[in-house]
Amino acid sequence: MTAPGDLAAAEAMLASALAEARAAIPAAGTLGALDDLERAALGKSSPALSARAAIKDLPAAERPRLGQAVTAYRDEVEALVAAARERLSASEAALALDRDRLDLTVGGRGYRRGHLHLVTQVWRRLEDVFVGLGYEVAEGPEVELDWYNFEALNFPPGHPARAMQDTLYVRLGEPEQVLLRTHTSPVQIRIMEQRRPPIAIVAPGRVYRRDTLDARHSPVFHQIEGLVVDRGITLGDLLGTIETFVHALFGPGISSRFLPSFFPFTEPSVEFAMTCVFCEGAGCSVCSQTGWIELGGAGLVDPAVLTAVGLDPEEHSGFAFGFGLDRLVQLLYGVDHVKTLWEGDIRFLEQY
Ligand code: DAH
Repeated sequence: MTAPGDLAAAEAMLASALAEARAAIPAAGTLGALDDLERAALGKSSPALSARAAIKDLPAAERPRLGQAVTAYRDEVEALVAAARERLSASEAALALDRDRLDLTVGGRGYRRGHLHLVTQVWRRLEDVFVGLGYEVAEGPEVELDWYNFEALNFPPGHPARAMQDTLYVRLGEPEQVLLRTHTSPVQIRIMEQRRPPIAIVAPGRVYRRDTLDARHSPVFHQIEGLVVDRGITLGDLLGTIETFVHALFGPGISSRFLPSFFPFTEPSVEFAMTCVFCEGAGCSVCSQTGWIELGGAGLVDPAVLTAVGLDPEEHSGFAFGFGLDRLVQLLYGVDHVKTLWEGDIRFLEQY
């Protein structure tokens, strides 16, 4: 620090502080660093202030000279600071702009495409096979009337076959008249009521039963229904159709077989099965060593059903079949538990 009254020392101090400021201020890297340099050069403990404090101790003749030196020092430092501040502000703004810029040319990471659910895939495959055989795809409601689900299909009230279907009734209208359809067969009636033969439709869809969930049963599942009505339709047409369909879906090595059965809406009725796709008929755990996998039910449309929709059984005849989709999906993809299909576990779904 200058000795009081020492003009030369005060001037020397200002000169060296100025030299320092000229070097340091233009080199400041950030606005913060610049603020620090400004405070050191012009603030409370700066050389400028101590030089000014020294003025009063000088002889009166020397005072203006030191006063001018202090002013010159301050003006130059302020000018240096202003220039540096302008430069740094501009480059910090440019930096901020750069940081915030959205570069649309960078491109995204892309969307991962999902795929259709396994049941939907098999559903569509079946539709394709039947459309290829000349069928149309038909639909019916999932909330159905007793007439379509049972009565017109020759399940009279109190018929024991109704009990087999574990119906879920809906509290609408008369008691036990509105229900979640227990099978896709009601679409047969809806179509026959609307159109006259020749008819060839398939009706895939969701059906509901009061079933307890286990490896093969679920209260919500899917079926596909088929119906052909024309003149002179025979059991041979039905058997040939099923065989053709099984070949189309699984290839020529897989065949079908039929066993007698009973359904109220077909006469005669059959159950049909296809060669086990896993062991090709040799017998394995999937087919319980039988070499066959049960698919569904079928038969010739019962005359009572034709009569219910206003067709003359003497003139027209038809066949119908129906089978579960979920079972088929399980078989095709080796899914042990039907519930796996509905849990929504993305790790499972992603595999297909
Ligand atoms: N609807 C029957 C069921 O869910 C399956 C069925 C059997 C459909 C025979 C048919 C048929 O069209 O002819 O158990």
